[in-house]
Amino acid sequence: MSQEPLLKKPESGKWTDAYPQLGRGPISLDDCVSAEFYEKEREHIFKKNWLYIGRVERLPKVGSYFTRELQVLNTSILVVRDGEDSIRAFHNICPHRGNKLVWKDDPFVETEGTTSRLYCRFHGWRYGLDGHLIKPSRQDLLLDFEPGKCQVPAIQCEVWNGFVFINLNSDNKQTVSDFLGDFAQGIEGFPFDRHRQTYKFKAELQCNWKIFMDGFAESYHGPYLHAGTFGALTALAKLDAPNQYTDALGYELKGLHRMFSFYGEPSKETPYSLPIEKLVQAGAAGPWNKRPQKDPLPKGLNPTRSEKYGFDSFQFFPNFVLIFSSSGFTTHAHWPTGPHSHIVEVDMYYLPPTTHKERIAQELTVSFLNDVILEDASPLEGMQAMLNSGAIKEFHVNDEEILIRHLHKTVQDYVANAEKEKK
Ligand code: FES
Ligand SMILES: [Fe+2]
Repeated sequence: MSQEPLLKKPESGKWTDAYPQLGRGPISLDDCVSAEFYEKEREHIFKKNWLYIGRVERLPKVGSYFTRELQVLNTSILVVRDGEDSIRAFHNICPHRGNKLVWKDDPFVETEGTTSRLYCRFHGWRYGLDGHLIKPSRQDLLLDFEPGKCQVPAIQCEVWNGFVFINLNSDNKQTVSDFLGDFAQGIEGFPFDRHRQTYKFKAELQCNWKIFMDGFAESYHGPYLHAGTFGALTALAKLDAPNQYTDALGYELKGLHRMFSFYGEPSKETPYSLPIEKLVQAGAAGPWNKRPQKDPLPKGLNPTRSEKYGFDSFQFFPNFVLIFSSSGFTTHAHWPTGPHSHIVEVDMYYLPPTTHKERIAQELTVSFLNDVILEDASPLEGMQAMLNSGAIKEFHVNDEEILIRHLHKTVQDYVANAEKEKK
């Protein structure tokens, strides 16, 4: 691996100088409040771009499937590994009379399993794993019927490094890899498939999807919001001055996507370590004595080449966050359920533990991280309620909040351009 940094702070010491197109002043918050804007976001962004919907390990064999209930898309998605071992996605609907095809006890609850055929329980029609009609029931009753026109409606689906993406825009010609761009190329080679120990949680929050993403786009809030979980940071907050623990190592913007690289020294005891951390030798940032990395890091990770590197967080447009740390990788997906509500899904992927101690250490890290994320979520519902009051119209974001500036500008520009094209 080259030791040459890929990313440097501008001489001025201000990140905004590296990205002058973003400006420096306040930014409109209308995109987090307006119901009208939300409808445009659904139409132009969510229904026309590649969206990450799950890891391929959820489909281990031919016939494995899972469903996704995605209100923002106004549909249910069925994802299947077919007989050719390809991953396919469909609208979860029977083309006979529109029954929801795959569900168990409740049609609005996601499900998963394995099957050899897609079977509609309403009138017993059967479809192959590739969506073609195998057999309608009572074929003798069907008049002027063309089986070729009666298929489970397919959706574009592609797998990139084990991440399954769908795109509802049937005119889309861009591959996932091209869509994800340089950031994705930079992390190619990370051993995603070896990280099979998973820890997951999901919650619905009464706030716009972007304001939770904003909370994962800066570490400036660390010493204040996370005072309860990170004693060391709390002490530093009193300094109220630049410091290496809370100022990012680097911010980078590429097209629709953005990332930041952040300080972290996970591998040792600190004066703030709790007795339980000392016992299992792990903390919120991962194991103290992590196993040596078998492979070098892909070139796009730790782009500042810092020895104090802790993690990298990539925000892929529109709603997919991919975070790398000493523990492995974590995905966040933010699914709007309305202008002022969304579901957040957090999935952590670690190397399978080889000892009981490693397993307990992972559980400790996960429970710490859950507390940290709960802290991240804690201001958001009150914040949304106050944004809805209309008392303020803009966010006053600073230089360490440059990714927030980028997220909102990208979303607002994307919608504005799509609306212009429509006219
Ligand atoms: S609606 Fe599916 S078989 Fe009739
Ligand atoms: Fe946080």
